[in-house]
Amino acid sequence: MTEPHWRHARAGDLVAISAIAARIHPELPERPEVLSEKMRLYPDGCRVLATGDEIAGYGLAHPWMQQHVPPLDSFLIRLPEAADCLYVHDIAVLPGFRGGLARAYVAEIEGLARASEITTIALVSVYGTRAMWQRLGFQPAAADAALRDKLSSYGAGATYMLRAIPPRDRR
Ligand SMILES: CC(C)(COP(=O)(O)OP(=O)(O)OC[C@H]1O[C@@H](n2cnc3c(N)ncnc32)[C@H](O)[C@@H]1OP(=O)(O)O)[C@@H](O)C(=O)NCCC(=O)NCCS
Repeated sequence: MTEPHWRHARAGDLVAISAIAARIHPELPERPEVLSEKMRLYPDGCRVLATGDEIAGYGLAHPWMQQHVPPLDSFLIRLPEAADCLYVHDIAVLPGFRGGLARAYVAEIEGLARASEITTIALVSVYGTRAMWQRLGFQPAAADAALRDKLSSYGAGATYMLRAIPPRDRR
């Protein structure tokens, strides 16, 4: 079997991405067309974990505005012109393949951010993944009432987190 590795997602990967999303996130369902819109709007941020002919995970990210989170299962319509962060919408890896893969995906997104002169990565931690994201350099960020309201669609315990890319790394 080919060593699992992140590669850019292609339109034909949508079926596998949707199947993994439905399996890993049964309580946070999103329509395939909502996921494919992200792949169309910002293909650079959309990766799949390739293991030979199989797909064992995906990561979806796109430029966005800090303190704003897109509601789940909703279309972005368009990307902001003055984006100030790359927003990691989701990362999911099938259980048998985990280990080092969130770290590897975040490294790829950091590279994208630097290339786009974006200095912050944002995400919403769910399922008690806060400690894992902290391990990867993210910190919980204060959320105003509007953001707290949006976070409620992500389930109890959802936490908005930011990771600043250190200046020495921005090249
Ligand atoms: C999230 C997910 C993709 C992580 O994949 P992974 O390959 O296990 O991630 P990594 O091994 O790169 O973990 C990143 C770091 O966090 C650490 N970590 C993992 N779980 C942790 C935990 N519960 N507490 C603290 N640290 C943790 C890892 O040891 C690693 O640190 P290291 O590189 O210094 O050893 C995978 O667990 C998954 O698909 N979960 C279900 C979906 C999900 O929760 N997605 C995130 C939604 S916000």
